[in-house]
Amino acid sequence: MSASLQRTHASRKLRSQEWFGRQDRDGFIYRSWMKNQGWPHDLFEGRPVIGICNTWSELTPCNGHFRELAEFVKRGVWQAGGFPLEFPVMSLGESQLRPTAMLFRNLASMDVEESIRGNPMDGVVLLMGCDKTTPSLLMGAASCDLPTIGLSGGPMLSGKFHGCDLGSGTGVWQMSEQVRSGQMTREEFFAAESCMHRSKGHCMTMGTASTMASMVEALGMSLPGNAAIPAVDARRNTLAQLTGRRIVQMVNDDLRMSRILTREAFENAIRANAAIGGSTNAVIHLIALAGRVGVPLCLDDFDRLGNGMPCLLNIQPSGKYLMEDFFYAGGLPAVLRELGEGGGLHRDALTVNGETIWANVKDAPCWNRDVVHIFKQPFKENAGIAVLRGSLAPDGAVIKISAASPHLLRHRGPAVVFESIEDFYARINDESLPVDENSVMVLKNCGPRGYPGMAEVGNMPLPPKLLRKGVADMVRISDARMSGTAYGTVVLHACPEAAAGGPLALVHSGDTITLDAPKRLLQLEVDERTLASRRAQWSPPPLPARGWERLYVQHVLQAHQGADFDFLVGSSGAKVARDSH
Ligand code: FES
Repeated sequence: MSASLQRTHASRKLRSQEWFGRQDRDGFIYRSWMKNQGWPHDLFEGRPVIGICNTWSELTPCNGHFRELAEFVKRGVWQAGGFPLEFPVMSLGESQLRPTAMLFRNLASMDVEESIRGNPMDGVVLLMGCDKTTPSLLMGAASCDLPTIGLSGGPMLSGKFHGCDLGSGTGVWQMSEQVRSGQMTREEFFAAESCMHRSKGHCMTMGTASTMASMVEALGMSLPGNAAIPAVDARRNTLAQLTGRRIVQMVNDDLRMSRILTREAFENAIRANAAIGGSTNAVIHLIALAGRVGVPLCLDDFDRLGNGMPCLLNIQPSGKYLMEDFFYAGGLPAVLRELGEGGGLHRDALTVNGETIWANVKDAPCWNRDVVHIFKQPFKENAGIAVLRGSLAPDGAVIKISAASPHLLRHRGPAVVFESIEDFYARINDESLPVDENSVMVLKNCGPRGYPGMAEVGNMPLPPKLLRKGVADMVRISDARMSGTAYGTVVLHACPEAAAGGPLALVHSGDTITLDAPKRLLQLEVDERTLASRRAQWSPPPLPARGWERLYVQHVLQAHQGADFDFLVGSSGAKVARDSH
């Protein structure tokens, strides 16, 4: 145990005792209603109350095993002398939720924040899996800042089809292009449905879920090994139990999130994201999370810290293996050890187990160097997320270098513009669409305000006539996001977005666009006078009529600010002064 941790449990009154420790009418109410579940009176007499924040839902298949997982967490809490109380929060299923789960990330984070703050708990275990369930829980909990520990649900076993590995999402994008180009029959395509997702767990490529589970571990917010243990491996349940034990000690030590989520922790996460070839979605989620704990973090940090960082992990969509292979090769500790030995880790960053991150990983073994490469002989050089700027994206845009085609990273070509995703789908299969392999496909109005919710549609499928010619990649630019499982020379998150009046709104088909990723440049080659006249003709899209979408569009920040709400940035702590009766 780190000497820096102060053991305060002997003198500190537990937060839950403000409810359960009362000897008055309100104390009666707080305890008596809870007793209808059969809890003996002594449980209310000063045990750390551990909230288990559960995103279980049958509509979030990646988190469908979380009721069982929560039982293992509870075992651990009981073993350590705590009192576990499980509570549900809004669950965001990436595969089902329309129009995009990202529209509800901030809503779920508000649910988490208020559920934690308003209830009698001393510490929290966050059960996270499918893409948005991780950032929403981290963000909500961070705004309360109780002792908190993360536990991911774990990836699915590798998909298997026709004797080969088949990765979540990545395989869908590949096979659907093969169907469109006539290389695969629709019957074969649909037969793959049952072969891709064959066990509990979240996507098993290095998509957003695996990326964010890795970020949780790299930030120090989970026990070591959290990211890669498959959901169905018994060791996932063991980790759940150990997590339950650990949160009780964290409450006793008053080890809060704000002590873990430091600037150094975020820098470790950014470098780890480069090293694993992680999702571009991590950029938005990490900036939003940093905003909740008051750590200054901006888009340029990703380029500065990730610049020159190698990709060490040979995993889809940047490579060939899957999360199950990553676990057998040593998991994230093996990557973090390489980063630490290569000078890419703040070794002293504190983690939830009370140890520094370096103490956790310095002896981590690697069992397969084709999966986890060494720092000096990486899987790919210079693989961090690049931040582009220029007349087309004055506030920045991002590109995942490790998933792009090297020959397209410097490219100049004419724009083929789609005004919306509906416009794109209406025209992309048209054989007379004036597009060739040198064209730059531009998609507008898919940003935070424009979609609304910033959908994962930036990796536009290629025109069938080019697929048949054997074209496998083209430069694509949008204000959208892209699934972490996707790949290609895809420029994303252009800021300001089209719906906010960014230059993207002013692009016309035929305009020349220059992408120079090595120089971090994204230019719209149109003179200022022409742009001014186009700007005069532009008007913003109408506000949604009512409800959540209206609130969202009125308050969402741009992608380079994390797409959080303007009124959610920051923290309110966990204090609630008023009783409820
Ligand atoms: Fe849930 Fe991919 S759909 S993690």
